[in-house]
Amino acid sequence: MSVRDIVRIGHPVLREVAAPVDDVTAVQGLVDDLVDTMRAANGAGLAANQIGVPLQVCVIEVRTPNPRYPYKPPIPLTVLVNPRIEPLSDETFANCEGCLSVPDLRGVVDRHVELRVRALDREGSPIDTVVRGLSAGTFQHETDHLNGTLFVDRVTDTRTLCTWSEFRERYEPEFVTRVAALVSRFGS
Ligand code: NI
Repeated sequence: MSVRDIVRIGHPVLREVAAPVDDVTAVQGLVDDLVDTMRAANGAGLAANQIGVPLQVCVIEVRTPNPRYPYKPPIPLTVLVNPRIEPLSDETFANCEGCLSVPDLRGVVDRHVELRVRALDREGSPIDTVVRGLSAGTFQHETDHLNGTLFVDRVTDTRTLCTWSEFRERYEPEFVTRVAALVSRFGS
């Protein structure tokens, strides 16, 4: 188990479509490293290609309070192997996202509010669950990574791009109010 270096935008591994995992026993060390690296960086999630491994594995966890994302509701540690997501409605919300592979940048991305998530867990047992609200944005962000997509690819209005300090100063209060309504509606 160790904290690994996080690769940054421009590195080609972030643009690879990650390969499916055939045998979960072969990725136990990778999962441990992803969890350690995510926690060390205060991330809400981390995909394997972000540490240079193009395999379909990502981890998600929000322990509150998270200093990067103080408004996010908690998400228990979730390991997704070979995840597939499917929107359950056309409804979307405007999420202001950041990424450990895109330093000091945030931008507004439309995300579905309700998703079905199917995957294997780290033991190889099937996961088939529904994720709603702000947490659904986190699941879409991490599974995007495994398809070689970064949040900046989904920013339709590039004028929403901002640094973290500009976000905190200018946009966070309105965003927090809006996502609080979303979290209260969906409970997550
Ligand atoms: Ni990311």
